[in-house]
Amino acid sequence: MTAEHVTAEHVAAEHDAQTAPTAPADAASAVDDVLTDLRYAVAPIEPFGLAIQALEPGLHVRDLPVAPLRSLVREHHLVLLRDFDSFDGPDELSAYCERWGEPSVWPFGTVLELVEQEKPQDHIFDSSYMPMHWDGMYREQIPEFQVFQCVNAPGAENGGETTFSHTTAVLERTDPRTVAQWSQVTGTYHRAMEFYNSVTVSPIVTTHPVHGAPVIRYNEPTAAGDAGFVNHPDLQFTGLPDDGIAEMHRSLRAALYDPAHFYAHSWRTGDVVFADNYTLLHGRNAFTSGAPRHLRRVQVLGTPALDNPGLVR
Ligand SMILES: [Fe+2]
Repeated sequence: MTAEHVTAEHVAAEHDAQTAPTAPADAASAVDDVLTDLRYAVAPIEPFGLAIQALEPGLHVRDLPVAPLRSLVREHHLVLLRDFDSFDGPDELSAYCERWGEPSVWPFGTVLELVEQEKPQDHIFDSSYMPMHWDGMYREQIPEFQVFQCVNAPGAENGGETTFSHTTAVLERTDPRTVAQWSQVTGTYHRAMEFYNSVTVSPIVTTHPVHGAPVIRYNEPTAAGDAGFVNHPDLQFTGLPDDGIAEMHRSLRAALYDPAHFYAHSWRTGDVVFADNYTLLHGRNAFTSGAPRHLRRVQVLGTPALDNPGLVR
């Protein structure tokens, strides 16, 4: 696909009313301005997402207007900026993200430093894989966007890709009888870690909080017998007999990881990735312990912010 397949008009028209103060035609032309700017190469990512590459040195992430970028993330669910200059430290990243909306604030602030720890208390700081989940599932509010900056890539052979699954595409392309089975199931998730101790209850199939299309909210159980996984959450699934639950996990995992709906982002130092947390689930591939993988992540709330519909305590 080439840049002209990216339909600026309908992106902007669909989303402008919620966020951008400009008229739809202005928003569409702002998207067009980004997509046709000869300083950038714009190309689709397969099977979803959009890559915008800087073709000249000295172009900074901050130079791209936020409103059209936000529209592009909503349409493509993931936007990669590559070869741009970016942020010198967490404060610069955080200040930039405030242009996107209100950042989620954690005990550590707004910027999560994703770096392997020597003796991690939780798998997030380990080099293990991270099962599919949605961000904010255990918090008061669910962020709409995730902003990642790759401070240091792990190295091409070291794994550590951030993984994403496009859940509306999964639901559109899966046999309706299978979706009907998934729709019977509710997950109850309990996770205690340094920053929270929460219970969340959510149907596997629910609706997007803005446009109402079906989406999947699922925290994938870790692989059976994975004794090295630090700090397992406690997951329970109800609504079908045990064999039906087992089949749900099998078929849902197969669909989420099907290459038609699944993208694993292989990090390069300097990459900035924006992801649509309302639509996608995400996780991480394991990486070589000791690899210099360093990401920063900020979560940006929607407008208005989405109170977590599943949080029990
Ligand atoms: Fe996450």
